[in-house]
Amino acid sequence: MKGQEKHIYPVFDKILQRSHKERLLNQRSKVIWMTGLSGAGKTTIAKHLDEALYHKGYVAQILDGDNIRSGINNNLSFSEDDRFENIRRIAEVSKLFMNCGIIIINSFISPTEQIRNMALEIIGKENFIEVYVNAPLEVCEQRDTKGLYAKARRGEILNFTGIDSPFEHPEHADITVRTDQQSIDESVNQVLEFLLPLIQLDEEGA
Ligand code: ADX
Repeated sequence: MKGQEKHIYPVFDKILQRSHKERLLNQRSKVIWMTGLSGAGKTTIAKHLDEALYHKGYVAQILDGDNIRSGINNNLSFSEDDRFENIRRIAEVSKLFMNCGIIIINSFISPTEQIRNMALEIIGKENFIEVYVNAPLEVCEQRDTKGLYAKARRGEILNFTGIDSPFEHPEHADITVRTDQQSIDESVNQVLEFLLPLIQLDEEGA
């Protein structure tokens, strides 16, 4: 259906542009998309990365699975369709933040190539940095910080990623961090090294 028929008149081209906001904040906006199993360390890295960026003078916003699913996405389950819808909305929300010039740090399992590609399509390849937060299932299950793996093994949670719902290893991640082999600081620094040149504005603000 065309926009006209829905009586929708987007004003994207009539409002201040992303570049104005980026100049104001003296940064370039990017979306850091962290994918990985529950318990792999996505939230921990997001938190440390956000703090590191803050101390360097950058404004970022974390969007995190558990938070988002208790608010804007509290009507979604963990079925394949609902995970898809979860990520679609997050990608759209990320775009709104991008238009404010803000750096977005997303931590969502985003378990399949199809789901991650959909996010990339919405956000745009040039804005999208995929980080695979990789720890083997055995390690995540042993950590079991939320006790969810034990529940999934007992059959008290269905469709649990890695147990009875698939996780496809990302084939094209820009960065892979091995949280079972490296410290939090090492992982955060690895992301920062990749990210900093991309979010710095040059002298002319271009
Ligand atoms: S995603 O697959 O749609 O990307 P998302 O990152 O939003 O998942 O949410 C994952 C978090 O929800 C997990 O870290 C865990 O705390 C919680 N959770 C509850 N049920 C499940 C489940 N069946 N599978 C995976 N995570 C679950």
